[in-house]
Amino acid sequence: MKSLVLAALAFGATVGMANAAKAQDLAAGEQSFRKCGPCHSVGADARNKIGPVLNGLDGRKSGTVAEYSYSEANKKADITWSDATFKDYIQNPMAKVPGTKMAFAGIKNETEIANLWAYLKQFKADGAK
Ligand code: HEC
Repeated sequence: MKSLVLAALAFGATVGMANAAKAQDLAAGEQSFRKCGPCHSVGADARNKIGPVLNGLDGRKSGTVAEYSYSEANKKADITWSDATFKDYIQNPMAKVPGTKMAFAGIKNETEIANLWAYLKQFKADGAK
């Protein structure tokens, strides 16, 4: 009985820690998004800026934000944004989509990329989390 209680306590502590780590990752991702902020916005009142709105990015097809004027390169990129495609792209956007008008050198640190993706994918198409 005592060991069951201990197991339950240990489990609770692990879940608690996982949640704390996640909140930390999201905060780090939000911090990282400042690099994108001059050109992109997310959230309920996001607007296309130099680059398109990044709401609803998880599962979105490249080049499909209404009212945004993409380059031919981005229009033809034919990428569906996901964990894998985003991680690949953001390391070097200009190499992944040659001719893109996104003038951004990329992020190389894998943890930073993972946190940034965790932050971004919270936003649904309407900008709500
Ligand atoms: C200097 C401005 C600038 C910065 C900084 C920038 N972007 Fe972009 N981004 C753009 C532009 C412009 C486009 C559209 C590219 C095109 O049409 O060729 C774009 C396109 C994209 C796309 C493709 C969107 C789609 O609908 O196909 C993604 C994803 C993206 N950016 C993510 C990011 C992230 C994440 C960051 C920060 C790490 C970032 N960008 C930083 C300007 C920028």
